[in-house]
Amino acid sequence: MIRVLIAVAAVAFGASTVIAQQDAIAARKALMKATGGQTAIASKMVKGEEPFDLTKAKGVFASYQDTAAKAPALFPPDSKEGDTAAHARIWEAKADFDARFAKMGADAKAAEAKVTDLDSFKAAFNDVAKNCGGCHNDYRVKR
Ligand code: HEC
Repeated sequence: MIRVLIAVAAVAFGASTVIAQQDAIAARKALMKATGGQTAIASKMVKGEEPFDLTKAKGVFASYQDTAAKAPALFPPDSKEGDTAAHARIWEAKADFDARFAKMGADAKAAEAKVTDLDSFKAAFNDVAKNCGGCHNDYRVKR
């Protein structure tokens, strides 16, 4: 737990380039998990399980931009092995992998600017969320 906290702190302070391999794995998993948490908030609003809230909706897209900015540095070449679902293919195509995050960040930024109500949120969220599944299909090991 302490290790995860340290890893998360390292990400928060932008010290990701110097973190060791296991910490990179823990940090990226924590980052992805937080991203999943934001996605759950979005899904509930889209399904009507929670009332639409514009601040929260924009917050989801802001968090995606943050993830997109931080994630590429959390996949250093020495972090292929360990308790990770990252596919080895990532390091054979790191430029493409990083470009997927760049696209997710750009899409989230456009979506954040565009969303005004539940309908525009539904459309924008569905589009941006395609980035998640697309990358997981190609670069995450299914377990
Ligand atoms: C460019 C690729 C890429 C994109 C885009 C991406 N992910 Fe991931 N995600 C990964 C990889 C790789 C892993 C496996 C990380 C590991 O185990 O080291 C992962 C893991 C996860 C996990 C599991 C974390 C854990 O607890 O181990 C969740 C949840 C997740 N992603 C959610 C999301 C959501 C939601 C989005 C979109 C908003 C997203 N991801 C976008 C590559 C991506």
